Amino acid sequence: MKKKSFVLAAVMVAVLALTGCGKKDSSSDDTLVMATNAEFPPYEYYEGQDIVGIDVEIAQAIADELGMTLKIEDTAFDSVITSVQTGKADIGVAGLTVRADRLENVDFTDSYTTAAQVIIIKEDSDILIPDDLEGKKIGVQLGTTGDIYADDISDATVERYNKGFEAVQSLTQGKIDAVIIDREPAKVFVSENEGLKIVDEEFTLEDYAIAVAKDNTELKDKINQVLSELKDSGKLQEIIDKYIVAE
Ligand code: ARG
Repeated sequence: MKKKSFVLAAVMVAVLALTGCGKKDSSSDDTLVMATNAEFPPYEYYEGQDIVGIDVEIAQAIADELGMTLKIEDTAFDSVITSVQTGKADIGVAGLTVRADRLENVDFTDSYTTAAQVIIIKEDSDILIPDDLEGKKIGVQLGTTGDIYADDISDATVERYNKGFEAVQSLTQGKIDAVIIDREPAKVFVSENEGLKIVDEEFTLEDYAIAVAKDNTELKDKINQVLSELKDSGKLQEIIDKYIVAE
């Protein structure tokens, strides 16, 4: 290379570096990395190659408001909180129930919706109320609140699955007596499988929120600000209504 063109090339590289026109990487400041477990319709699930759902749309709205690009990392459910804790992800949005023990590892934003744990049974089951779970074989998704609650039921055997629908499959095959899982995914799974129903009485009520790293108060405050705008404008309800048809 001639000296003149070398200088020119060097200047161009410097300009590109300074203006940030180079290729963006995921750790760049304007990418919002969301850890989730896309096995949880209608909050996060695959539609072809794409991960869609209520949580995805809420995260997208937050990224838009913050002028950031959303990047979704699909992982095992029991890795979602760790990803946020270790900084692999900026936010955990996975139908995450706010719990005191989780608050030891991450912070939660304000809640964006209320939820519940319910019990799925076979239509001919003798389980009629939550108390009937005593001594039964219960399927759950590993690391979920359903897992934690099932563990407390006396004499019950807990079967842990990587995915919620695997627990439901196992119930259909008669390998377990019930599944404890969040209400909306339960409704989806029951509608997709013959011979199942949901016990009328809910097991527990919960609140979903977004997890952020404990020291990231700045991001938490920003997200709370956006969430409150999404609530006031009706946009949050609009997103929820798009995926959950009121009964
Ligand atoms: N709400 C429950 C919990 O926080 C289950 C969430 C499961 N979410 C998922 N994306 N698989 O433990």
